Amino acid sequence: MTTETLRYGLIGGGMMAREHIANLALIPGSAVTAIADPDPVQQALNAQAAPGAALLGDADALVARNDIDAIVVVSPNHTHFDVLQRVFAGRPRPLLVEKPVVIDPAQGRQLAALAATWPAPLWVAMEYRYMPPVAALLEELRGGTAGRLRMLTIREHRYPFLEKVGDWNRFNANTGGTMVEKCCHFFDLMRLVLQDEPVRVFASGGADVNHRDELYNGRRPDILDNAYAVVDFAGGARAMLELCMFAEGAWFQEEITATGEQGRVACSIPGPLRLRGGAEREAMIEISPRDPADPQRKAVPVDPALLRAGDHHGSTYFQHLRFREAALGNGPVEVTLEDGLKAVAMGAAAEQSIAEGRPVTL
Ligand SMILES: NC(=O)c1ccc[n+]([C@@H]2O[C@H](COP(=O)([O-])OP(=O)(O)OC[C@H]3O[C@@H](n4cnc5c(N)ncnc54)[C@H](O)[C@@H]3O)[C@@H](O)[C@H]2O)c1
Repeated sequence: MTTETLRYGLIGGGMMAREHIANLALIPGSAVTAIADPDPVQQALNAQAAPGAALLGDADALVARNDIDAIVVVSPNHTHFDVLQRVFAGRPRPLLVEKPVVIDPAQGRQLAALAATWPAPLWVAMEYRYMPPVAALLEELRGGTAGRLRMLTIREHRYPFLEKVGDWNRFNANTGGTMVEKCCHFFDLMRLVLQDEPVRVFASGGADVNHRDELYNGRRPDILDNAYAVVDFAGGARAMLELCMFAEGAWFQEEITATGEQGRVACSIPGPLRLRGGAEREAMIEISPRDPADPQRKAVPVDPALLRAGDHHGSTYFQHLRFREAALGNGPVEVTLEDGLKAVAMGAAAEQSIAEGRPVTL
């Protein structure tokens, strides 16, 4: 890895921005030079997290600066489209955009047209790809351990949505809906694991348990807190997502099982210690051939410093290592705008399927 210094500017300075700051601090040759956020409380926290960074009020002020080599968009979902247009109006620089890149497919089509002339790397931050247990699962599958894949199950059992600045995440109009907002990660993993494209989504879900006693300007949150989504892929494989956001007691937060004609590979990922207490738990990978039917389980160790630097099992660090190489011209963009938009489209189809009670064709 080269140690040439990359100077980052962050647009949005809330919780996830501080995860980016903490992880960039672990990567030699990285500096955060400016953070744009209109919220003074968040900027006070950022003054401590990134001492010396210029604290700016809006994206335009950041885009106008010349001391920034790469931009990270980490503002709320519904602001991404506007913020990206402001970024595109400035000097082309490598760009990392938080998921979901936009909140719906219509915005996505407009963004794709605008981005077509953006000459710098544009990477969508779907970092679950880079969790070490997920990377280990992908490596096994690529090596042929399970044979031709037929089924993929992703289960997330976790804590409710956290409180956000201005409570933006309580409403579908801001987030794109739970299937877009957080499940875009899992729809992205489906495409990545199966190396195929989805053709149909059938989902069932509800807003049944969480946030029922909350009111914002007299409105109750409308975001789903549990769902099943079944996705058919062009090549005949099928995938299923099970999401439950009132299951923070689960030992593992995510469990992913890929089953092929010759065996199955699974990984299990604990949730962030910061949000559950107790002791650190190890992620696991399980390799289960059909013949001999003798499953092997082993731990997937992750440096505790990386676990402490965020809520995503070290993945933000590994994503930044790869983004850095792309930004310096030493590697490809691994999560493209097209990947980001397809994950949004799958999430939007799942939301539509739930709302209408029917399968949605992609
Ligand atoms: N990759 C992941 O796993 C992951 C995890 C958490 C959040 N995220 C994404 O990161 C983004 C931010 O989420 P968060 O958890 O930090 O939310 P947050 O509410 O903690 O922070 C968002 C910040 O953006 C600021 N902001 C609002 N409008 C802005 C604008 N137009 N320009 C600049 N700043 C603006 C707010 O004042 C706030 O400080 C969201 O898109 C979210 O989906 C991704």
